[in-house]
Amino acid sequence: MTDQEITKQEMTQNLDAPWAIGKENYSIFTMHLSNKVKNIFEAGSGYSTINLAADFPNCQITSLEESLEYTNKNRNLLTKSEVKNANIYYCPISVQLLNGVWARTYKVPDELKRTEIDALLIDGPTERRYPGAREAVLYFLFPQCKVGAIIALDDFHRQTAKLAVKRWQTRHKDELKQVFSSNTLVIFEKVASKGKSGIYPHLILVTLPKQLKNLLRKFLSLMK
Ligand SMILES: C[S@@+](CC[C@H](N)C(=O)[O-])C[C@H]1O[C@@H](n2cnc3c(N)ncnc32)[C@H](O)[C@@H]1O
Repeated sequence: MTDQEITKQEMTQNLDAPWAIGKENYSIFTMHLSNKVKNIFEAGSGYSTINLAADFPNCQITSLEESLEYTNKNRNLLTKSEVKNANIYYCPISVQLLNGVWARTYKVPDELKRTEIDALLIDGPTERRYPGAREAVLYFLFPQCKVGAIIALDDFHRQTAKLAVKRWQTRHKDELKQVFSSNTLVIFEKVASKGKSGIYPHLILVTLPKQLKNLLRKFLSLMK
């Protein structure tokens, strides 16, 4: 091992960094995964990405990342940890129509849109910067989740997360079964697929203040 490499112990310890999922929630999530999982998707890259890759060597880990800086930083971590079964995709946040849903969320490359997902960990985008974006992750990836897929949302203590879950349960009534919940983590199993789609005006509305602020800023800079 060279000085640059990261040990498994360091990888696990770093899960308790303030911005990361935490060792406890990580292990609760992974305990729910069977040894048959092949494709794990993750929203929000970090130490969870390398830990998943190391703990599930027969799986492909696909991580969606909104920030170019952290895409590069976390890709470097992957290289240092020498795992080969994870990819971090830089997916800038933009407003899009996805599976009939208008939302501001990750812009996912077309090559990922056919992958069948066995497990999904939603720990991004950054809620403060992109309100509603975590909620939207489920809407556009839900059709790709297999029946039986495990879907987890971190930071369940936040009001925004609780609201997102309420809407998921309304939207995907009879398709989602809650299998775990604590103060900070909630886990569902996809138990059926009804193949609905729809429009979610509230997801556009949450982006309005920011859009208006940007417009005003542009207008003021033109007036100078
Ligand atoms: C909640 S974190 C995701 C953490 C990741 N799932 C984990 O548990 O390691 C959400 C966002 O924080 C940012 N992030 C990633 N690595 C970071 C780091 N080392 N320091 C600060 N922020 C980071 C990324 O933009 C990421 O999408």
